[in-house]
Amino acid sequence: MRILVTGGAGFIGSNYVHYVLQNHPEDQVLCFDKLTYAGNLDNLADVADGPRCRFMKGDICDEAAVTEAMAESEAVVNFAAETHVDRSIQSAGAFVDTDVKGLYVLLEAARARGIERFLHVSTDEVYGSIETGSFTEEDAFNPSSPYSASKAGGELMAKAYAHTFGYRILITRGSNTYGPYQYPEKVVPLFITNLLDGLPVPLYGDGLNVRDWLYVADHCAGIDTVLRKGTPGEAYNLGANQERTNLALTQTLLELTGRGPDLITYVTDRPGHDRRYSVATGKARALGWAPAVGFEEGLARTVAWYREHEGWWRRLKDGSYKEYYRRTYEERG
Ligand code: NAD
Ligand code: TYD
Repeated sequence: MRILVTGGAGFIGSNYVHYVLQNHPEDQVLCFDKLTYAGNLDNLADVADGPRCRFMKGDICDEAAVTEAMAESEAVVNFAAETHVDRSIQSAGAFVDTDVKGLYVLLEAARARGIERFLHVSTDEVYGSIETGSFTEEDAFNPSSPYSASKAGGELMAKAYAHTFGYRILITRGSNTYGPYQYPEKVVPLFITNLLDGLPVPLYGDGLNVRDWLYVADHCAGIDTVLRKGTPGEAYNLGANQERTNLALTQTLLELTGRGPDLITYVTDRPGHDRRYSVATGKARALGWAPAVGFEEGLARTVAWYREHEGWWRRLKDGSYKEYYRRTYEERG
C-alpha cells in the first residue's frame, strides 16, 4: 500500500511512520506535514527520503498541495492537528483551521480520488469528562476545550460526508498517549525534561484529574489495525485501561528520575479542566488489537528515551518554547 501520512513529523505520526516501515515491508509512506512548532524532521531523520519514505512539506488546508499528495496514494492516515489544550485556550484559531477545515479539505480530495481507506486520528476528548464508567463509540460528543471542540467538529464533518455522499472513513479515538518524540509541552515529556534538569513540575489544581495512559507504540498498533481491518464509517476507541491521577503519574516520574516530592508545585488549574477521561475499548479489541505495554514499563522506557536523547529535547526547549512556557506558567503562579 502507498500510504499518505499527514502530520507524520509530529509525535504519534512519526512513531506511526516508523511502525509502518518496520511492520509492513511492502508499504511505502508519503509523509506530509506543515512543520508547525510541533512538527520536527529530526523525528524522521533515520527514515525520511529513504527508498520507502518521502517527505513533502504542506498544509492540509491547502487544496492544491493535498490533491498533489494524494495523487499517488492508496490510503490516508491523518494525524495533522493542533493538539495542545492549553494553547487552544490561549488562541483557538489555528485549531479551527487545521482540525476542522483541514479535515474537510482532506475529505473532499480523498472523496474525489476515491480513496477507499482513509483513517482519521481523533481523540477520546470529544466525549468530554466522565466521573464513573467509560464512554462507548455510541455516546454523544460533549467536548469542553477549544481543542476537543475542534476535533469533534472535524468528526462531525466526516459523519456528514458519510451520510450525504456515502464517503465513509475510519476514525480512531485514542486516549492520552506518551512515549518517544513527544514535544515537551504535554504533561509527560514536560515533567520528565523538567525533572531531569532538577526543575519544578507544575501540577494543575488538586492533581487528581484522571487520564488513561496509552503507550505510543500501542496507539500506533491500534491505528494500524483499524486501518487494515476496520469497517469504513465506524469509529473505534483506543485506550489502555491504565487510569492514573496526575499526582500518581508525577510520583512515578519522580521515582524514575530520582527526584523528590519537593519539586511538585501546585499551580492554578486549567480553565474548564476535564476531570476524567475513560473509554471502553471492546470494539477495537474485537479486531485483534490489545495494548501490550503497561504504565510503569512504558514510563520507564520513555524516561530512558529522554535521558538518551537530550539533544533532541534541548533544541526544542529553546526560543519560542521559552516564551510559551512563560506565558502559560507565569500567570498560574
Ligand atoms: P503533535 O502536535 O505532536 O503533531 C501534530 C503534527 O501535525 C505536527 O507535525 C504538525 O507540524 C502537523 N500539523 C499541524 N497543522 C498542520 C497542517 N495544517 N497541515 C499539515 N500538518 C500540520 O500531535 P500528536 O500528539 O502526534 O497527535 C497526532 C494526532 O493524534 C492528532 O490528531 C491528535 O488530535 C491525536 N491524538 C493525540 C493524543 C495525544 O495524547 N498526543 C491522544 C489522542 C489523539
Ligand atoms: P496534557 O498532557 O496537556 O493532555 P490533555 O490535556 O490533552 O489530557 O495534560 C494531561 C493532564 O495533565 C491534564 O489533566 C492536565 C495536567 N497537566 C498538569 O497538571 N500540568 C501541566 O503542566 C500540563 C501540561 C498538564
